[in-house]
Amino acid sequence: MNASKNFEYSIEFFNREREKEEILHILKTEPQLLNFIYGPMNSGKTALITNLIEELSSNYVVFYTNLRARDFSDGIGLLRDLFGKTDGMFKKLFGESDVQKTNETTKAKIYSGIPASEKSLNEWFKEENRVFLFTHIKDIMRDMESSGKHPVWIIDEIQMMDKYVDKFTIYNLFQFFIRLTKELHLCYIFVLSSDILFIKKVHEIARLDGRANYIVVDDFDEETARKFLKKYKFSDEDANYAIDNFGGKIGNLIQAIYKKKWGKELSEVVDSYKNITESSIWRRLSELKLTDGELFKKVIEVFKEFENSDVADCSRVDYKALNFLIKAGILFSDLYSDTVKPQSKIDLLAIREILKEMKF
Ligand SMILES: Nc1ncnc2c1ncn2[C@@H]1O[C@H](COP(=O)(O)OP(=O)(O)OP(=O)(O)O)[C@@H](O)[C@H]1O
Ligand SMILES: [Mg+2]
Repeated sequence: MNASKNFEYSIEFFNREREKEEILHILKTEPQLLNFIYGPMNSGKTALITNLIEELSSNYVVFYTNLRARDFSDGIGLLRDLFGKTDGMFKKLFGESDVQKTNETTKAKIYSGIPASEKSLNEWFKEENRVFLFTHIKDIMRDMESSGKHPVWIIDEIQMMDKYVDKFTIYNLFQFFIRLTKELHLCYIFVLSSDILFIKKVHEIARLDGRANYIVVDDFDEETARKFLKKYKFSDEDANYAIDNFGGKIGNLIQAIYKKKWGKELSEVVDSYKNITESSIWRRLSELKLTDGELFKKVIEVFKEFENSDVADCSRVDYKALNFLIKAGILFSDLYSDTVKPQSKIDLLAIREILKEMKF
């Protein structure tokens, strides 16, 4: 996506003006709420925030941690990964050595974590010293504010915590986030994920009613998807065909653009995605049929809701089956509406195909 890397084929960041504007409004206002950025898988959440922070002015300092790319085996390891290790602690913060990406001097500096020395980290991660960890972060944020810079703390792929961090730690961490935002107004916090069940869980555990703001990054609508494909010289016919099969899923559309450039037929690209998705859903269903026949039947009932419709009303379907399908990454449910839809157009088509095949 980074055109400056000079690949023969590359794709520039496209659109997302509305979402960017919403985030920029937040960044122009004193920090208030904890911000969640969520949306279906592969909708472009990470790309949006990455593009946005690269454009921020030097009035901001960004700490961006992506938990997906990290190597940790337990909760402590994960919390540790919110930190970038330095020897001189935050004295070095304004130096260049810890900077992950140094743009021009007019742009915000982006760090891969909150700076902390290895020695202090080892001390802090002893249970009894945990409070110093939070104090350290607060000090850094205060230091930034008093030097006229606004700290922006971003934690991407937060659902990684689900596996490694217990409820008590989630509660404490998110209470700390509330302290930094709503109470002290010290820094902006953005938390990103496509795992709607984990976000709901965090909301409940940390009692986030009225303390959090939710920003959705959904797949492109048809018109935007068409403009995007046109930019890469798709004919009307090819654009329609791609959208009929991939909808506005940016990850899929990009593959269509690249593979077409490589000389592949669009139908070949579509078929390969359809086959992979269909067989992966079949596999999940077969496993479920073996382990829980009742739930399997309810899941098929949920699928039937999509026979003639792109979305379904949550209240009409079995709760357990719905949760199973959301957890399996087959369906996506919006936080604000009581509707549920397949994660992508390809998933929708696969569900319909499976229903057809089951009739025989
Ligand atoms: N607006 C955009 N313009 C061009 N390319 C984009 C855009 N948004 C996303 N992409 C590209 O689409 C792909 C998927 O995007 P990305 O990884 O940001 O999605 P995501 O929502 O963060 O996914 P996940 O749910 O896995 O976290 C990436 O290769 C990314 O570079
Ligand atoms: Mg992402």
